[in-house]
Amino acid sequence: MMTTEQKQLLEDFDLVIFGGDGDLSFRKIFPALYHRLNEHQISERSRILAVSRKEKGHDEFLVQLESNLRIFVKNIDETVLKKLLSMVSIGMIDTGTNEQNEVVDGWLRNTQLEVRVFYLATPAAAFGPIASYLNQKGYISKQSRVVLEKPLGTDLESSERVNDLVAEYFKEDQIYRIDHYLGKETVQNLMVLRFANNIFESSWNAGNIEDIQITVAESIGVGTRGAFYDQYGALRDMVQNHLLQLLCLIAMEPPAILDADEVRDEKLKVLKSLRPYDATTIRSHTIRGQYTRGKTGEGSLPSYLEDIEKYDSETETFVAVKTYIDNWRWGGVPIYLRSGKRMAQKYSEIVINFKDVPHNIFPEKKDIDNNRLTIRLQPEERIELKQMVKIPGPGGYRYKPFALELDYADHFDDRFPEAYERLLMDVVRGNQTLFMRRDEVRASWEWVESILRNWESEEITNVLYEAGSWGPGDSIMTEGAHWVSPPKQSRTR
Ligand code: BG6
Repeated sequence: MMTTEQKQLLEDFDLVIFGGDGDLSFRKIFPALYHRLNEHQISERSRILAVSRKEKGHDEFLVQLESNLRIFVKNIDETVLKKLLSMVSIGMIDTGTNEQNEVVDGWLRNTQLEVRVFYLATPAAAFGPIASYLNQKGYISKQSRVVLEKPLGTDLESSERVNDLVAEYFKEDQIYRIDHYLGKETVQNLMVLRFANNIFESSWNAGNIEDIQITVAESIGVGTRGAFYDQYGALRDMVQNHLLQLLCLIAMEPPAILDADEVRDEKLKVLKSLRPYDATTIRSHTIRGQYTRGKTGEGSLPSYLEDIEKYDSETETFVAVKTYIDNWRWGGVPIYLRSGKRMAQKYSEIVINFKDVPHNIFPEKKDIDNNRLTIRLQPEERIELKQMVKIPGPGGYRYKPFALELDYADHFDDRFPEAYERLLMDVVRGNQTLFMRRDEVRASWEWVESILRNWESEEITNVLYEAGSWGPGDSIMTEGAHWVSPPKQSRTR
């Protein structure tokens, strides 16, 4: 068993969280801070200001924060919890009315710390007004950074508008656009797998790879986020960001060095090479779906329309697309991306299917399975390489597929840090490698818009699938698209 790397104590910082009493703060940001404090990566000299739009008493907020931390942190340590709570203040800012309470100004002006992070855990519509407000009050310094939560708009135009507004007050090297998938351990391992191992690079191309499949399946529905989700749907919520970012890491050229812009330059080239859709391919190469009532072992599940209590919604909760990266390395290799809510099981995985051997010298048996590299991201972290092996014994060559497996839980005994822990620390360090640059966001929207535009003009409607099933993918995807079967069962850490 190995333990994970040693952590270095970071420079002390001020963190201002807009939406500080919101769902994301309680579920992800504060637990991430707790863990980093617990692991001595941040010191209690750092300060945290949670900003709410409503006036809230300090004690009232701390009670709310504490009870949420007790829910979202397992085996909480009372001393660390106390330390974290002592670092937190609550302030009120309403950018609509230009009101703030006295806590805010005192807090922001009365500091010796240089690094100041503004975390905007709010809807994107608030980003511009918040940035302008901070500027007007003189709270932005050269050492300030701003963190933007996805989704950045609902299409290219709205995302450009948000980015333009923020860019009036922050330079690109101060802007951290979060895609939390990039902070997942297993996603970062994609870089190591590809660029710290020589065996893959020589076969990582159209000459050897049959297809690439990326699946992010969720068993949950839309929960309490129905009103929000209904404006987005699976394509904007998952594909435009998370799945495309995974694809970039799989398909990009090796950067010369591990530098934020070098890495992002390479990712951008992938996004720019994605083949857009037209009136023909939109029908044969994409599927959109919406879940109807269904059931699992635990009971019956409501439909999407029932979940959101809006019975005429045409928002998709499932999307599957086939695409191509039109460049020298990947020319002609089909790439399948799919993601859906209320699927049979939560699992995310990347599958690289290799081509058949060019010639079979074993006459007794025809079916040689192709090699397959499977990178499981969730719920457990695993890498699996399927290969053919000879079945021992005399009397000719009998062989069968066999998987070489690396299960992280068997080899690393530490808790895996949550994506937000890593990403927050990178913001403090000033490392933008795992954050999306503006041109990446623009390129991914351009491609996504070719789907949205054609869905609309070709009147592509949702295919219904039962909640708790694997979605409509298998039966409808044409031109030989085949999904690798989802796992029968998965082991969890
Ligand atoms: C978010 C989406 O970005 O990612 C959610 O808005 C989705 O709809 C979530 O559930 C999935 O993240 P994870 O880390 O649970 O795979």
